[in-house]
Amino acid sequence: MASPTQQSHPPDNQPLWWQYGVVYQIYIRSFQDTNGDGLGDLGGIIQRLDYISDTLGVDAIWITPFYPSPMVDFGYDISDYTDVDPRFGDLVTFKWLLDEAHRHGLKVIVDYVPNHTSSEHPWFKESRSSCDNPRRNWYTWRDPQADGSPPNNWLSVFGGSAWTWDATTAQYYLHSFHREQPDLNWRNPAVQAAMFDVARFWLELGVDGFRIDVALLIMKDPELRDNPPDPDPEPVWVRTMGPWALQLHVHDLAHPDVHRVYREFRQLLDSYSATQPRMSVGELHDRDLSMWASYYGQRLDELHMPFNFHLLGVEWNTTIIQRLVDAVEAALPERAWPNWVLGNHDQSRIASRVGAEHARLAMMLLLTLRGTPTLYYGDELGMPDVLIAPEDAQDPWERNAPGQGFGRDPERTPMLWDAGPNAGFCPPDTRPWLPLAPQAERLNVAAQLADPHSMLTLTRRLLQLRRTTPALSIGSYRAWNEVPDDCVVYVRSDGAEQYVIILNFAYEERQIELPSCWRGVIRISTCGDRHDEDVRGTLRIRRSEGVILGLAVGADQPEADGA
Ligand code: GLC
Ligand code: CA
Repeated sequence: MASPTQQSHPPDNQPLWWQYGVVYQIYIRSFQDTNGDGLGDLGGIIQRLDYISDTLGVDAIWITPFYPSPMVDFGYDISDYTDVDPRFGDLVTFKWLLDEAHRHGLKVIVDYVPNHTSSEHPWFKESRSSCDNPRRNWYTWRDPQADGSPPNNWLSVFGGSAWTWDATTAQYYLHSFHREQPDLNWRNPAVQAAMFDVARFWLELGVDGFRIDVALLIMKDPELRDNPPDPDPEPVWVRTMGPWALQLHVHDLAHPDVHRVYREFRQLLDSYSATQPRMSVGELHDRDLSMWASYYGQRLDELHMPFNFHLLGVEWNTTIIQRLVDAVEAALPERAWPNWVLGNHDQSRIASRVGAEHARLAMMLLLTLRGTPTLYYGDELGMPDVLIAPEDAQDPWERNAPGQGFGRDPERTPMLWDAGPNAGFCPPDTRPWLPLAPQAERLNVAAQLADPHSMLTLTRRLLQLRRTTPALSIGSYRAWNEVPDDCVVYVRSDGAEQYVIILNFAYEERQIELPSCWRGVIRISTCGDRHDEDVRGTLRIRRSEGVILGLAVGADQPEADGA
C-alpha cells in the first residue's frame, strides 16, 4: 500500500521567496555579450531580464563572480571583493542590473567567495611581502618539513600539493585550489571582520542573497594534521575529482568551528532582513546526509540552505533516486527547507549525463520535488556538454591535468539565443570565449519558443504551473511506492489541492494502477501532449514520459484507498 513516507513541515506561514521561488544560475561569462569581446557581461544580463522573468518565469537569479579578477579560475580568484571587473561592467551597471531585476520581480543572489582570494589581492601581496607584515597571518604560512617538503599531505582540488613554496620569505602558503588562489585564514578575527564587511557592502547595495563558494573549506584543523587515505574511495568521486578523492578530508575542511562562523554570518544577514529578506545558500559536498543537514544549524540559525547536490552524484536509476529523495526528506531538520540541483558550472550537463530524452523527465523532477530548485542556464534548452579541443581548453583544472575528464569548459559554453551568427551570444565578427554547441541552430531559444514540443516550452509550462500552484511549490511531499519498475511517483499537496507526479524512466510503456478513489486530469506531459486528458483507473505512460496529474478536488487521500 502507500508509502509511509510523508514529509510536510511546510515553511512558516509566510513562505519566503527563496522557499517558493525557482533560482536560475547565470554563468556570467557565457550568458550574453554586449560589448563584442566574446565574454558575457552585466549589460547582457540586463538585456535578457525579460527572457528570465517573463518568458522563462523564474523568481531569482544567481550570478557567478563578476568581481575584479586575473581570471585564473574565471572569477573565483578575486583581487577586489567590492568592485566589478571592467570586462563585466562597473558598479553603476551592477546597481542598474539590481534595480532592473527587482523591477522585474526577480531577486538577485551573488557569489561570495570566502575561502580564498586571488594571489593578486592586495591582502596577499602584503602577506607575502615579509614574515612580519601585519597581514602575514591573514593567510596560512608554514615552514617546510625537515626534508624541504610541504608542511602536510593536503592536496589541491586542481591537482598537486595544496602548498606552494614562496622564495621571498622561505615558507609555504596554503591553497585548496590553484596556487594563485591562496586560502584566507578565517581563524584570524581580522579576516572574518574584513570578509563580513564585504558581505555588508553588497547587502547595503541591495542584493538579496549569497551563494557561498566552498562554504566548508574556511575552517581547517588548527594543527594542520595530515589527512588519512580513504580506504574505500567512491569511484564516481575518483572519476570526477582525481587524486583528491583518495584522501578522507577530515582535516583540511569542515572543522566544527565552521558552524560558529555561519551562525554569525546568519546574524549578519538577519540584521538586514527586516524589510528585505536575505538568504544564503552554501556550496558543500558532504555525502553524509546528517552532516549535510547539520549546516542548517541546530536552531536553523546557520545557512538558509546547504546546496543539495546529492542528485548529481547518484546513478540515474529510479530505485536509487527514490531512496535518495526520501533520505534527504528524512534527514532534514524540523522546518528546514530543502533544495535540489541537477546542474551547475562544475558538473557535466544533465542532457549529457542522462540523454536528451530523459533530460525532460529530469526537468519535471527538479521542478516538482519539494524544495527550491536551482536551474542552470541552458538546461532549459537541453544544452549538452560541448566537446572542447585541447587547444581551446580554458579551465585551469583541465590545463593542470589535460585529457582526464576533469575540465569544466564543456558545461560552460555560450547560451544559445537564436539561429544567427554566434547564436546571438556575441556579435558575428567576435570569437566567443568558448565554442558554441554544434546544435545551436536547433536548440536556440527562438527556435524552441516556436515549437510547442520543445524542451523550452516544457520548462516554461512547468515553471508556470509551479508558480500558480502552491501545492507544487510549498506543498508537502509523499512518496508513492506501489509503482511499476522504473517509475517514480510522488504526491504534492497543500491541503487544498493534490498533484501526483509520475515519471517513467523505462524506455518502454508502463501501466500504473491508480487508487480507485483518484480522478484526475493530466496538466502536463513531458511529451507536450495529453493536456487535459481525464485519468481514472489505469494510466498508460509512454517510454520516458512524465506526467503531472491534478487530482479532482475532494479525491480521497491515497491512503484512504482500501488495502
Ligand atoms: C567552487 C566553484 C568552482 C571553483 C571553486 C574554487 O567549487 O563552484 O567553480 O573553481 O569553488 O573557487
Ligand atoms: Ca562582453
